[in-house]
Amino acid sequence: MNVNFYGRDFIITPDVLIPRPETEQLIDAVLTLASKPFLPGIKAPSRELPKNPVILDVGTGSGCIAITIKKELPEATVYASDISEKALKVAKKNASAQNAPISLIISHLIKNVKLKRLKPDLVVANLPYVDKTWDWLDLNSLKKEPEIALFAEDGGLALIKELIDEASALKIPRLLLEADPCQHDKIALYAEKKGYLLINITGFILNMRLK
Ligand SMILES: C[S@@+](CC[C@H](N)C(=O)[O-])C[C@H]1O[C@@H](n2cnc3c(N)ncnc32)[C@H](O)[C@@H]1O
Repeated sequence: MNVNFYGRDFIITPDVLIPRPETEQLIDAVLTLASKPFLPGIKAPSRELPKNPVILDVGTGSGCIAITIKKELPEATVYASDISEKALKVAKKNASAQNAPISLIISHLIKNVKLKRLKPDLVVANLPYVDKTWDWLDLNSLKKEPEIALFAEDGGLALIKELIDEASALKIPRLLLEADPCQHDKIALYAEKKGYLLINITGFILNMRLK
């Protein structure tokens, strides 16, 4: 099936997460950092990324985030990683259908991304953050999507925390991370201990900068 994300149609199979509307705010946040107003009549915000930024999307799934960034910000070099080979196949199809030149890498978080060639100015991620024990969850409605795309241990925070650890060790200057609002305080506190300052939160998206 096809699913619209930020105005473009993406091929979605049972191997990937169905893109969610709340993730579109992550694209708005990237455009804000790049000084590209995304609403008519709004003054351009000040640029917080280099003119030709290197951006890494971790846990790319269908590729909707990485491909949209490349389409909206053609001057960016965009890398996208995922642990799932099946997901990367879908991302490859979408990148080719959208004519978006991005590099796809199989990796557990950032581990296998060759950082000598690639120095990301910004890491973006919508990693699995659902905790199976949340009592408001309708698990039946999530059955069509892969578990690896949805659930994480440690209250849903295990992968996000690990990504923050990796980003901190690599001194990645900026992070945009999606998580459920009920997790935001814990993530901000954890990130602060790892050297990241919370700049703002929009919807589901935490915007953080290396101190
Ligand atoms: C919530 S989905 C997000 C997909 C897509 N970025 C989106 O926003 O629609 C999370 C993605 O992270 C991937 N993933 C899960 N564990 C991972 C890991 N350890 N390293 C890298 N990717 C992982 C899953 O395969 C899945 O594609």
